[in-house]
Amino acid sequence: MKRLCVAVIMLMALGCMPQVTNLNIVPAPQSVKMGRGTLNVKGIDIYCSPQLDPASVGAVNRFAERLSTSCGRACQVASTDRASGSGMYFLKDDTIAPEGYSISIRTGAAEVRANDFNGFLYAVQSLCQILPMAVYGSEPAPGESWSLPCCEIYDAPRFGYRGLMLDCCRHFWSVDEVKKVLDVMAVFKLNRFHWHLSEDQGWRIQIDKYPRLTEVGSWRNGTMVGGDWDSNDGIRYGGYYTKDQIRDIIAYAAERGITIVPEIDLPGHMQAALASYPELGCKGSLPQPYEVWTIWGVSKQVLNVGSEKTMQFLEDVLGEVADLFPGEYIHIGGDECPRDEWKTDPDCQAKIKELGLKDKDGVSAEARLQNYVTARMQKFLAGKGKKIIGWDEILEGDLAEGATVMSWRGTKGGIKAASMGYDVIMTPTTYCYLDYIQSADMEHEPFSITHQWETPETVGKSAITLEKIYGYEPLDEIPEEAQEHILGVQCNLWTEYIATPEHLEYMLFPRVLALSELQWCNPEHKDFDRFKASLSSRSLPILDKLGVNYRKLD
Ligand code: ACM
Repeated sequence: MKRLCVAVIMLMALGCMPQVTNLNIVPAPQSVKMGRGTLNVKGIDIYCSPQLDPASVGAVNRFAERLSTSCGRACQVASTDRASGSGMYFLKDDTIAPEGYSISIRTGAAEVRANDFNGFLYAVQSLCQILPMAVYGSEPAPGESWSLPCCEIYDAPRFGYRGLMLDCCRHFWSVDEVKKVLDVMAVFKLNRFHWHLSEDQGWRIQIDKYPRLTEVGSWRNGTMVGGDWDSNDGIRYGGYYTKDQIRDIIAYAAERGITIVPEIDLPGHMQAALASYPELGCKGSLPQPYEVWTIWGVSKQVLNVGSEKTMQFLEDVLGEVADLFPGEYIHIGGDECPRDEWKTDPDCQAKIKELGLKDKDGVSAEARLQNYVTARMQKFLAGKGKKIIGWDEILEGDLAEGATVMSWRGTKGGIKAASMGYDVIMTPTTYCYLDYIQSADMEHEPFSITHQWETPETVGKSAITLEKIYGYEPLDEIPEEAQEHILGVQCNLWTEYIATPEHLEYMLFPRVLALSELQWCNPEHKDFDRFKASLSSRSLPILDKLGVNYRKLD
């Protein structure tokens, strides 16, 4: 409470000061007050208070190395509990909100305060955004003006969950490409990477107990071309991440303040797993044998969840995933599971009978069977200290307490789930789907899922422009008493029609930067014109420096 009060008083005090500029930092800090003069940081001495945890000291050290290289003079780091004299001081301050920070720059010294690792990281990211652009490169640039403007910044995020989902299944992205995405997420203060690792079209994670998932399930015999469902390019396509590669990515993300939320999508979207282990499938209602799917869409071939063998498989897979990923959440999918096969499969029908599941209140017995799978996996993962996230279909029927719902079919699922007391992450297709076209210019934008169903007359409504994402308000229509359940916002990039890193980056950026302000800034600090000006003058040059291919502003 004391911390909260001090933070509020600080914010109020800073709020009363004139907002001269936001220094073009994206996402815009909660408060910036400009002073007079500058602080020369070339070769500046950097001090960490002994109260800083080792990870935060590591972040300061990396900043010092970066600054030393780019300004061409060593910036030494030392520990001190004295916070006076010239230099740049990193101090622990338990009055600062989670992931928040303050920066005070005067002509002789700077003080950076935070209460946790992410707070120090974000302070450093903001400092980099106001230093010469060379700080993003690896070449010394001693001729630049290595000074910081005198100012007072106070900052903290609006939402604790600030996510981005990448589909690495429809198309596979190398370790380096994933790291590049994480690098940009870190600059713009996103903190959750939702990693979509299993699909009809490819299984992408090594599972020791089931080697065929990667030997067989990670490869498909060609891919449909453009929007033509009857075509196949004839090129064998695939790939997967080894556990060592995954550990490397987890560590890389953690160093950047990003927690990974791995997704194993079940019990639908499992055709690649079925091609690997056909015995996990339903009996006979659809053409066999199974193959890793070469076309897009929603496969009707799903797991036989009436069989204990399948349950064992799921627990084994999720067990390995839970052991590998340190974050608190495992995403278990749950979306788009056609239940046609379950209607005739003897195991599924026997399980429905055994559990006494009935068509009731507009929810079919088969939908309730999916509930049973969700609840079983939730219980299993709880035993491993993990919580589940599922797409909003998991709300159909009875969802156990403690699940988190990812609202993608518009906002209705999220509104309902939050009102029922479930935690929610908002990711509605209408605002947050980065596979949708990003302007109404169908002729010049690359082929996207939008081209499948829109015409030049209708595309305006479904295009997800930078401004559209920016304008989304995640608490709209959420009853006040339920708003605390909205953990945050996420954008999703499904990659059916995206096959190259250049195209991937084009679809992500700069829309992810609009997402970052939506996740970070309170509504009163959002201003699209200011945001766009910051992109032009600072954020897009940063993307250039990082070698990112982004869509140019209109
Ligand atoms: C989804 O877009 N199928 C979650």
